[in-house]
Amino acid sequence: MIPDTATNTKANFLRLLSYVKDRKIGLIVAIIGMIGYGAVDTLFVYSIKPLIDEGLSGKNPAVLTYMPIFVLGIVLLRGICGFASSYGMSWVGGHLVMKIQRQIFNHLMLMPVSFFDKNPTGTLISKITYDSNQVSTAATASLVNLVRESATIIGLLILMFYNSWQLSLIFFVIGPPVGYAINLVSRRFRKISTNLQHAVGNVTTTSEQMLNGHKEILSFGGQPKEEARFNSASNMIRRQQMKMATVSAIANPAVQFIASIGLSIVLFAASSPELVAELSPGTFTIIVTSMMMLLKPLRVITQLNNDVQRAMAACTSLFTVMDMDTETDTGSHVTKRAKGKINLENVEFKYPTKNEIVLKSINLNIEAGQTVALVGRSGSGKSTIAGLLPKFYEVQSGQVLLDDIPVQDYQLKNLREQFAQVSQTVHLFSGTIAENIGYANENASREEIERVAEMANVTSFIEKFEDGFDTVIGEKGVMLSGGQRQRIAIARALLKDAPVLILDEATSALDTESERKIQQAIDRVCSDRTAIVIAHRLSTIENADMIVVLDEGVVVEQGSHAELMANQGDYYQLHQIQFGEK
Ligand SMILES: Nc1ncnc2c1ncn2[C@@H]1O[C@H](COP(=O)(O)OP(=O)(O)OP(=O)(O)O)[C@@H](O)[C@H]1O
Ligand SMILES: [Mg+2]
Repeated sequence: MIPDTATNTKANFLRLLSYVKDRKIGLIVAIIGMIGYGAVDTLFVYSIKPLIDEGLSGKNPAVLTYMPIFVLGIVLLRGICGFASSYGMSWVGGHLVMKIQRQIFNHLMLMPVSFFDKNPTGTLISKITYDSNQVSTAATASLVNLVRESATIIGLLILMFYNSWQLSLIFFVIGPPVGYAINLVSRRFRKISTNLQHAVGNVTTTSEQMLNGHKEILSFGGQPKEEARFNSASNMIRRQQMKMATVSAIANPAVQFIASIGLSIVLFAASSPELVAELSPGTFTIIVTSMMMLLKPLRVITQLNNDVQRAMAACTSLFTVMDMDTETDTGSHVTKRAKGKINLENVEFKYPTKNEIVLKSINLNIEAGQTVALVGRSGSGKSTIAGLLPKFYEVQSGQVLLDDIPVQDYQLKNLREQFAQVSQTVHLFSGTIAENIGYANENASREEIERVAEMANVTSFIEKFEDGFDTVIGEKGVMLSGGQRQRIAIARALLKDAPVLILDEATSALDTESERKIQQAIDRVCSDRTAIVIAHRLSTIENADMIVVLDEGVVVEQGSHAELMANQGDYYQLHQIQFGEK
């Protein structure tokens, strides 16, 4: 789990403001609307005095004739102010979510591979979907409530003091305890909000795992296990929400009770003969009405903390990720097209998530244009080496060089342009087959796509599809077989036409005939570029210029097929096991 670092409330608030800088107009309109709303409410209370003291008492009957128009006008005004504030805030809030979502999405794309080894996909998804919305809804709600209710409170207070400052002073008796209660509640809210976010992340992760692995669940009868996992994750959300509801349910009546003490004192004080003589019925009604009307904004302001804490917890979660370093890209070397010479010098490597050293002092010299095969037992470090070349991870010691220049000296984008990779686990994007192949090069023409598809033996199976190249495949190419997906991945890599081709078990899922056909195409392509081929099936790599045998992160043998067979070492052993029984 990512430890939260961006926890400074004030800094987060200012940072949040910077997101809506260019939406000032909406914000201003909304704030005017909110203040207007409070002012209208105050005006309404104010009108009680002339109504009672002049209109109803018969002193000035004209008041009663303009009162109906006044009421209509004031309700209309209130509606306009309400509209302005809702519309303005929705506009600003919508832009806020969009901006944050885009930023976090783009930031995640730039994170190093190791970041994704550490963080479950579900948690990251919930940051994009849930947390960014939390920021906006909660921040918007807090602002609306803060400004509108503060305006009402200020308006009513002015009105009260103007009419009877003695009675109004009582407000200050109840102020401090209310403030104290608010403060107490707010701390609790922030804690619960953070827990709630983690709980939502867990639910997303659990769901995602179930959706991705549902076949495994069916075949291994994992339903009870997954059900239990999800039950506990969803119960966690429910419990946190319940806690939040409890805290706010207790906070409300508590604040109201404190406030009602104030009201009782007013009523009590007003009964004293000196004050009764001084107060007109209208003034007294205004004070009591104001006090009653103050309860709602006071309550809303207590709940405000709920929203503020929710927004702050979400801000912390998002800003923490946004503040994390993206991949280091300090190199400046740029090459148009590398020759493809690759050297590993005393490379030692361990994954950031593990302590175990995966590669121990690897030395490897690959000349430009060579085809080199990496073989060895599962877990010996073959894919790890393939991942170090385009600098998906950084080595702990030693050097990885491309054309005699350390990979970290290259501009990252430029470095990766030099490698075309078919990785062990093929990922296809949702879209058509042509789009998937064309992913490697957006400028590729349809002819080029069809040419590489032919080479990778894709054409032979898509002929059966009604839409051919324009067949839409699912998020993970679900309606294709493993071998078909591999072939699309090979076509995609071929289209990239990079000086170094890395094939990690690229044909492992294919039948012998398809494999042979693709092998010929690959051999042709490899004749003018460097190729690193990882394979378990030794028959496919016999023609390689050099075969490197790895075992537990160490190069144990290297040479041509003939040399290694003559040596009768590890390679010979592997070969015997694969072909011996025949
Ligand atoms: N992303 C990762 N994070 C941590 N450890 C990893 C990661 N990927 C691989 N490893 C570990 O590194 C070691 C070497 O893995 P690697 O994938 O390089 O093996 P391999 O030779 O490609 O095996 P295979 O033939 O099964 O594909 C293994 O012990 C594995 O557990
Ligand atoms: Mg591997």
